[in-house]
Amino acid sequence: MSAGTPPDETALTRAQLLREMGLSPQWKLRAQPSVGRMTPVLIAEASVEQGSPPVAAVTASFATPGVSASGASVTDREQQIADLDWDGLRQGVADCRACGLCQERRQAVLGVGDTSADWLFIGEGPGAEEDARGEPFVGAAGKLLDAMLTAIDLKRGSDVYIANAVKCRPPGNRTPEAAEMAVCAPYLRRQIALIRPRLIVLLGRAAVHAVLGELGSLASLRGKPFVYPAAESDGQAIPVVVTYHPAYLLRSMPDKAKAWEDLCRARTLMRTAKAVPSLPM
Ligand code: URA
Repeated sequence: MSAGTPPDETALTRAQLLREMGLSPQWKLRAQPSVGRMTPVLIAEASVEQGSPPVAAVTASFATPGVSASGASVTDREQQIADLDWDGLRQGVADCRACGLCQERRQAVLGVGDTSADWLFIGEGPGAEEDARGEPFVGAAGKLLDAMLTAIDLKRGSDVYIANAVKCRPPGNRTPEAAEMAVCAPYLRRQIALIRPRLIVLLGRAAVHAVLGELGSLASLRGKPFVYPAAESDGQAIPVVVTYHPAYLLRSMPDKAKAWEDLCRARTLMRTAKAVPSLPM
């Protein structure tokens, strides 16, 4: 991972980044969670890493797939996608016409980053700039996401993979519909299985809906210990952290502090995950 990696010379300092995110100076104080509040969650999360599901954990369940617009049997299609390697996945997503989003896209956007990253960040779907450039999170929200990554010593492309719930831009940057996310879910599932991240961070409601299902408001889900189940990931259960979408944070200053809390929690979880040896596949 990039922790400890010297920042490049053009990078902002941590203090500058925190200011940029509107999180300074109160960030530092909020970065120290109270023991009373965090301990039960950490105990539960530690038990996830050791293979026994915590009582409080809610396992991820992808939204039930809908009917493919192409008419293919969803089960067959899912199986085909589940068997793809990275090249097949790239091609499959580029050629995908399984829902109406293909009609207005310039290109499908699979994801970006280290394909064996420990960290997987999942957003909603490509916007106009992502659609034009073929890379997730390259617009204003992406700049904030990059700042968030830097704040926890991460860097796009280095031990981090960034994907979206849907691979094609919803017209007008609207939120993807449940059926669109369901049709796209096998691609995301396959990405997770190939990457085998140690931690998944869900950015915003659509990502939560796509991976965990419709469980409630984002505010009610933050801080709860979700896991992505071993069966889906083809390996170990993966802790899942829910936080706000960067585009939302650009509009809502007060919630940036909460996002920082989430990132701190994610970093703690990652340290725990790394302390536990991975099981062989
Ligand atoms: N918002 C997202 O959720 N994903 C992107 O790739 C860009 C903006």
